Amino acid sequence: MAKYGVKILATGSFLPEKVLTNKDLERMVDTTDEWITTRTGIKERRITDENTATSDLAIGASKVVLQQTGTSPEEIDLIIVATITPDMLFPSTACFVQKGLGAKNAVCFDVLAACSGFIYALACAKNFIESGVYKNALVIGAETLTKITDWQDRSTCVLFGDGAGAVLLTRTDEDKSSILSVYLGADGNQDDLLKLPGGGSRKPFSKDVLDKRLQYISMNGRQLFKSAVIKMIEASEKALEMCGRKPEDLALLIPHQANLRIIDALRERISLPKEKVFVNLDKYGNMSSATTIIGLDEAIREGRVKSGDLVELVAFGGGLTWAATVIRI
Ligand code: ACO
Repeated sequence: MAKYGVKILATGSFLPEKVLTNKDLERMVDTTDEWITTRTGIKERRITDENTATSDLAIGASKVVLQQTGTSPEEIDLIIVATITPDMLFPSTACFVQKGLGAKNAVCFDVLAACSGFIYALACAKNFIESGVYKNALVIGAETLTKITDWQDRSTCVLFGDGAGAVLLTRTDEDKSSILSVYLGADGNQDDLLKLPGGGSRKPFSKDVLDKRLQYISMNGRQLFKSAVIKMIEASEKALEMCGRKPEDLALLIPHQANLRIIDALRERISLPKEKVFVNLDKYGNMSSATTIIGLDEAIREGRVKSGDLVELVAFGGGLTWAATVIRI
C-alpha cells in the first residue's frame, strides 16, 4: 500500500536550436519532403552539435523546472534519466546531471526502455516517493538520437531528433496524487525490430562493427509499425482501466510521436476527436524517451490542459517495451 501520493510540481523542456528540415534531408539522402510528410508526418527535427551530449540537454530541462518552482538543487533526493543515448555507457547520465546541477544529495541512475523510457522512469520515481523512501525526484527523458542515426540510411535518418524534458515530483497526501495509474509492458522476443547492435558487450566496438555500420540504429519499420499500433492501444486502455477512467474522461492524450499514422490508428480505436490528441512530431520527429515529457510540457505551456484535467501519456519502443500513465494536472 502506498503511504504517500505523488504531486507533479513542474515540467520543463530543452531543445537544441539547430533545425534540420525535410528539404535539408533531400540534399543528404535519396528522399523527398513529400515522402517524409505523407509517410510519417514529420517536417523538421532538432539536432545537437558535436560538443553537446545528452546530459547537457537534460541539465537544461532540469534548470527550467527548478527555476519555476524555486527549488534548490540540494533539495532533490532522486534523479532518474531515461535515455538510450547516454553520454557514456557509464557513469550514468543521471550522475552527470547531478554534477551539472549541484544536486549533491541525490541518488542517481538511468533507465533504458527506449521510447517508453520516460514512463518507466516515472514509475520508478512514483514507487520511491509513495513508499516514503525519497521526497523530491527529478525525472528526465533526454536523447541525442541524431548521434546514433545512420545518415546514409534514408529509411531511418528521416525519423529521429534530439531534445530533453523533465518533471519535478514531490511527496503529497495519498488522495492528492497526480499520477493515477501506470501500466508497463515488454516483449524481449521482438528484440530484433529496433536495436543498436554495436558497441555493447555482444559486439564491442571494432573495425568490423564500424565497417558494417552497427553503431547506428537498426530498424524493421514495417513490422514495428504493426506492433506499435497494437501495443499503444493495449497500454492506453489498460492504464485507463487501472484508474477506472474512460477515454472520454481525458482532456488530452499525449502519444509517443513516431509516426502520425500510428497516432491516427490509436486515436480512431479509442474514439477520441483530433483536438484531444497531442501532436508535435512535425516539429521534432521521434525523440524516444524525451518525446512524451516534452509533449506534456508543451501542452501545459500552450494552455491545452489546465489544473485538474486528466491527461494520458502512452508510448512504445525498442525492446519491445510499451507504457502508459494517467495523470491529473
Ligand atoms: N524516402 C523515400 N523513400 C523511402 C524512404 C525515404 N526516407 N524510406 C524508405 N523508402 C522507401 C523504401 O525503400 C520502400 O521502397 P520500395 O517499395 O521500392 O522497397 C518504400 O519507401 C516503402 O518502405 P516501407 O518501409 O514499407 O515504408 P512504410 O510505409 O512502412 O514507412 C516507416 C516506413 C515510416 C519507417 C514506417 O514503417 C514506420 O513509421 N514504422 C514505425 C517506426 C517506428 O515507430 N520507429 C520508432 C520506434 S521508437 C524507438 O524505440 C526509437
